[in-house]
Amino acid sequence: MKALTRENKAVFTFFGASGDLAKRKLYPSLFKLYQKGYLKEHFGVIGTSRAKWSDEKFQGIVSDSIKGISETEKGQAAKFASHFYYIAHDVTDKAHYAALNDLINQLNKQYEAQGNRLFYFSMAPAFFSVIALNLKSEGLITDEGYNRLVIEKPFGRDYDTAKQLNDALTASFEEDQIYRIDHYLGKEMIQNIEALRFGNTIIESLWNNRYIDNIQVTLSEKLGVEERASYYDTSGALRDMVQNHILQIVSQLAMEQPVAFTDADVRVEKVKALRSMRVYSPSAAATNLVRGQYDAGENSNAYRDEDGVPADSATETFVAGKLLFDNYRWSGVPFYIRTGKKLADKFTRIDVVFKKPLIDIFAFPQNPNASLSENVLTIYVEPNSGFALRVNAKSTGQGFETEPINLDFFQDADKEKEVPEPYERLLHDALEGNSTNFASWSEVAYAWKFVDAIRKLWDIEVPRFPNYIPGSMGPAASDELLQRDGRSWVYKLNQ
Ligand SMILES: NC(=O)c1ccc[n+]([C@@H]2O[C@H](COP(=O)([O-])OP(=O)(O)OC[C@H]3O[C@@H](n4cnc5c(N)ncnc54)[C@H](OP(=O)(O)O)[C@@H]3O)[C@@H](O)[C@H]2O)c1
Repeated sequence: MKALTRENKAVFTFFGASGDLAKRKLYPSLFKLYQKGYLKEHFGVIGTSRAKWSDEKFQGIVSDSIKGISETEKGQAAKFASHFYYIAHDVTDKAHYAALNDLINQLNKQYEAQGNRLFYFSMAPAFFSVIALNLKSEGLITDEGYNRLVIEKPFGRDYDTAKQLNDALTASFEEDQIYRIDHYLGKEMIQNIEALRFGNTIIESLWNNRYIDNIQVTLSEKLGVEERASYYDTSGALRDMVQNHILQIVSQLAMEQPVAFTDADVRVEKVKALRSMRVYSPSAAATNLVRGQYDAGENSNAYRDEDGVPADSATETFVAGKLLFDNYRWSGVPFYIRTGKKLADKFTRIDVVFKKPLIDIFAFPQNPNASLSENVLTIYVEPNSGFALRVNAKSTGQGFETEPINLDFFQDADKEKEVPEPYERLLHDALEGNSTNFASWSEVAYAWKFVDAIRKLWDIEVPRFPNYIPGSMGPAASDELLQRDGRSWVYKLNQ
């Protein structure tokens, strides 16, 4: 089903309009929607922050944020930028909201936006509650069209803070008006999990503990913490990557088939999956989770020597873990996850390892040393989009030996260029009122409960850091986690 190119009508308000995310991702993504006809004439964009900018200055910044375009596209970009307006605004000052409301009303009339209001919170999370409360108390929520909030991560730093934030948001907005961004859910191949599973009998009929041995999810980063060090040190890989991105991916891999492919039905199944994920006691967390922190490399600092990081920091820059689901489909099938900074390369992949045939008829007596490989379905999420299915086939020639071969599909380079950026896709989904690829409160809550249980152990037990070198795939304990179960990571270094 190809999405219809339907024009959307709305007035956007970006809180944090002078910030890094807005300039790097949000304005270029909106421009793509404009180029593709999802936004045409009936939209206005208000940027706010405390800086005192004119509309012209803001429009210049928006135009500059759109990179790599041709001369003809530059004219289009100027027309696009003419829809942008700026107002200096301190989100903590109630008195500033009246002027913002006036501008929204003015643009709504000018662009005939049908009263639709989309508020994007591209600011530090500490401000999310106060903005939501002020939007409500100062009368910026109207009955004329829709009112939607798009919220950046992180959503809390544990269950309690996430609940406080959610309570503050839901005091002013309904759950179906809140769009919690997880940009991994905007990635083409993450969305393909559902297509692969529920569009193919040959895959979904095998998608259970009878045929699958284990599932591996790897989100590997090559860079260190760079300029985010002081933020990162208060977070760590478990909160920054596992609570949101990894558990979102895992819930899509583990969920039952939704009744229909709608946001409400998908959410029901993801929540059920997360509810059946085992929450570890401290001793089980010690066995099933591994944490790491990078050491110095040939030309790079150890994490503890990065600017803004305390010399005795116990913050993890790597996590590996074994997740278990207590339900009929997945009982006995481990989901191994790992993510880290300063690893061998930047990539995201999912490896679904199938069980070997119960009996290997090729092994004996013809070929006592032969061994069938496991079938592996690999979903390549990035940098390239594609998938591969490893199967056993006969080696060409005399005799009867088998060897693993790959049936694979990779998006060709031209198509790859057409793949929308996650922010483009998610902004479009929010305009369309489709929350399938946003995290619901229940998903966030169960994910925090899982993470909090691990932190109970990690916050009191002092780790032996640093414990892995840049360019590796993390500490040795990550490999040992699988070796203990008689398994190994499908993706290994130098293969
Ligand atoms: N940057 C990224 O790549 C990235 C990636 C994923 C998620 N995020 C999330 O996106 C959000 C924004 O990140 P960012 O990197 O863009 O932050 P940033 O560069 O620090 O920008 C923060 C923005 O908030 C404004 N601001 C601060 N205090 C304000 C106040 N009291 N009233 C009004 N405006 C105020 C700032 O402008 P003034 O100081 O002029 O007011 C600025 O425009 C955060 O939640 C972050 O976690 C960012």
